[in-house]
Amino acid sequence: MAASAAAAIASPLKCGLISSQGFSGSTRSFQWRKNEKRNVRKASRGVITAKIDLRPPPYSLDALEPHMSRETFEYHWGKHHRAYVDNLNKQIVGTELDTKTLEDIILLTYNKGDLLPPFNNAAQVWNHDFFWESMKPGGGGKPSGELLELINRDFGSFEGFVNEFKAAAATQFGSGWAWLVYKANRIDVGNAVNPRPSDEDKKLVVVKSPNAVNPLVWDYSPLLTIDVWEHAYYLDFQNRRPDYISTFMEKLVSWDAVNSRLEAAKARAAEREEEEERKKTEYEDNQADLDAREMYLESSDADDDSEAD
Ligand SMILES: [Fe+2]
Repeated sequence: MAASAAAAIASPLKCGLISSQGFSGSTRSFQWRKNEKRNVRKASRGVITAKIDLRPPPYSLDALEPHMSRETFEYHWGKHHRAYVDNLNKQIVGTELDTKTLEDIILLTYNKGDLLPPFNNAAQVWNHDFFWESMKPGGGGKPSGELLELINRDFGSFEGFVNEFKAAAATQFGSGWAWLVYKANRIDVGNAVNPRPSDEDKKLVVVKSPNAVNPLVWDYSPLLTIDVWEHAYYLDFQNRRPDYISTFMEKLVSWDAVNSRLEAAKARAAEREEEEERKKTEYEDNQADLDAREMYLESSDADDDSEAD
């Protein structure tokens, strides 16, 4: 895969809050406030506000036929995904969120699970972008290389992973999503309680999420997703969700995309580790300086006392 294509696939993982700051701090001070007047003032000064775009799938709308029909895409992307984008833009215009990235909007409005109004539309926009890029014409089959090695390590076998992923997608009650994620840490994040705190770090995990929730809010790195809202499969499979899930796994999954995302997730985890190590060293150096200064002051005081004697 060309580097630019790999970067494009991995791009949904790029997030200012995640990559440079983590969650803590950024979510605590945010207050949702719709302020149309502010927007009017900004517009009158000619300031351009950020706009979330409706990104097309990275293939034509009939490219996944016969497994996912053009008609499904015309509704799913052309109407549902478009509505999430349009509604989100209406919600954030004139607010503090209109200059944020989509990922930052998701994290800020998750609000520790007490969802703020734009969360559902923002997360659904991100989820659908990610879902389209999780598939490709001629997809399916089996991954290879390090991705397959990690799948074998963390699920016992590729078949073990497929069974767990299918079960998560089939048992998500009502609307939602199933995910393969790279879980880099086990600590609770500022924004949410980690749903898998006892698992090992740096491993692949399958999770499911209701409605619009996605694993970014748990500080996990998503690698693959399937949309199990009925609008994703009803035209092609009616109520046969298990058949849709099997078709997705066998004919549609883009393992190239998953591979690129895994590389990005590992790089992000390594960057964080380096940053944490740098902060720890800086703290220890500062502490050593303080200790040395205290010892110097104490010895100076002792010298003064002995001279006075
Ligand atoms: Fe959907």
